Amino acid sequence: MAAPHLKIEDLHVSVDGKPILQGVNLEIKGGEVHAIMGPNGTGKSTLASVLMGHPKYVVEKGRITLDGQDVLEMSVDERARAGLFLAMQYPAEIAGVTNADFLRSAINARRGEGNEISLIKFIRQLEEKMKLLDMDPAFAHRYVNEGFSGGEKKRNEILQMMMLEPRVAILDEIDSGLDIDALKIVAKGVNAMRAPERAFLIITHYQRLLNYITPDHVHVMMQGRIVKSGGPELAERLEAEGYDALKAELGIEDATVGQKA
Ligand SMILES: Nc1ncnc2c1ncn2[C@@H]1O[C@H](COP(=O)(O)OP(=O)(O)O)[C@@H](O)[C@H]1O
Ligand SMILES: [Mg+2]
Repeated sequence: MAAPHLKIEDLHVSVDGKPILQGVNLEIKGGEVHAIMGPNGTGKSTLASVLMGHPKYVVEKGRITLDGQDVLEMSVDERARAGLFLAMQYPAEIAGVTNADFLRSAINARRGEGNEISLIKFIRQLEEKMKLLDMDPAFAHRYVNEGFSGGEKKRNEILQMMMLEPRVAILDEIDSGLDIDALKIVAKGVNAMRAPERAFLIITHYQRLLNYITPDHVHVMMQGRIVKSGGPELAERLEAEGYDALKAELGIEDATVGQKA
């Protein structure tokens, strides 16, 4: 599997006619872990949704390519097959479909007809990953996310990521609502998946997740664009000083976007 190369150029996106993203530039390569941090309402989840092809978000301008291929031309399915994966901030429940069935269908959809994973291999992998994530085996046979606690949903998103082995994993606020033990387990899952042929885009409001997953690059989003980039020390600075100090430095009064009609 070749290392991925995701490139976002001058991306402008609107929702319901409201401009949200206003010129995002970002380049992510295999082996790298990028973190996007920022206050709430600055466009982080919008970027994740646009990468996956959520129909609500309208690209007004700019380009997204994966290995030189135009991502914006691809359907959601094609994006998944190309290796893009999104762990959502608010994972959906799927009534009537068990976790195991869902995962097997998703894996086979990605592998394509004639190349389906054997049942034995699937079960072996599922058991192994669930053990690593300290998940009760019973969760394999429960309906996807139905009745799961916030923390269980997040762990389940990481299980999906581990089973699907994406080339570019986008994790949106995977740390929200997790206690410190669950956070460590989620980080263990992510770290176990770090590889030269895989890249991560980790979206988080707080620095604490980055104590357990050391990013190569840290970006701060405000007003729908990346206003500052650096290394792990940038996250530490934000932890120490908060977002207000950076806002003052950049002369930004209101970091949010799209709030006004
Ligand atoms: N589906 C949507 N419908 C309407 N407004 C949206 C939608 N998604 C995002 N927005 C708006 O875009 C802005 C940025 O939101 P979001 O990307 O979720 O920010 P963040 O993830 O940084 O908190 C907010 O003002 C939000 O209300
Ligand atoms: Mg968000």
